[in-house]
Amino acid sequence: MGYKDQIDLLKLPEHVAIIMDGNGRWAKGKGKLRIFGHHNGVLSVRDVVEGAGEIGVKYLTLYTFSAENWNRPSFEVTAIMELLVSTINKEIKKLMQNNVRLNAIGDLNMLPGKCHKELLGAIEKTSANTGLVLTLALSYSSRREIMQAAKNIAAKVERGELKADDINEDVFAQNLYTANMPDPELLIRTSGEYRISNYLLWQIAYAELYFTNKLWPDFRKEDLFEAILDYQKRERRFGKTSEQVN
Ligand code: FPP
Repeated sequence: MGYKDQIDLLKLPEHVAIIMDGNGRWAKGKGKLRIFGHHNGVLSVRDVVEGAGEIGVKYLTLYTFSAENWNRPSFEVTAIMELLVSTINKEIKKLMQNNVRLNAIGDLNMLPGKCHKELLGAIEKTSANTGLVLTLALSYSSRREIMQAAKNIAAKVERGELKADDINEDVFAQNLYTANMPDPELLIRTSGEYRISNYLLWQIAYAELYFTNKLWPDFRKEDLFEAILDYQKRERRFGKTSEQVN
């Protein structure tokens, strides 16, 4: 029996977040340029999006480009941005067919004009779709997101729209890029690195963490299903005792 058949569909994580890592090493291992790894990483994205949709995951959030990634050599940054545009153009039809709603989080104004425009166009085009919500984290920094939320809230207090005393976790969460999205229950990182790398720091407070040595271009839907099965075997206690939750 494959991993997929063993998954309990009644206990699916509603939101899965992934740190897609290892494209560069995968390419280097084959004696190729790093961008070859990113190109093959797109094939993994396609397969994992399909797999998530097949079993009924509602939200899939992919760490596609961090705010820190702007510091990479400019030819790699340019190549990733071009890849993003060409992938959006190539995949939009399939996103529509599969009822996927595209979304993006991060400092999107930093993206090159063409890339920003294509992205917003695709988001708009898929905005009425009701299936999987596929969120790309682009030019994303969780610390900046949290800082920006604090600034927004402070501005509302200054304008008299909100009392400092009324700030609570819900108010804070509604000022993050992920407002109206449930927190991820499962965070996957590929490539054998055990770090969070400034990703969804607020949102993963209670997420189960899953690390695999597979490099991202080798990751397929079967690996997603394996991670979900592993998640389903865990006991989520949220600070309570085992007896309380069982
Ligand atoms: C991490 O591997 C990967 C990235 C920084 C880019 C991710 C981009 C893609 C998978 C392609 C575009 C995606 C979409 C959705 C169109 P790395 O380069 O850090 O690898 P390394 O750690 O081995 O150097």
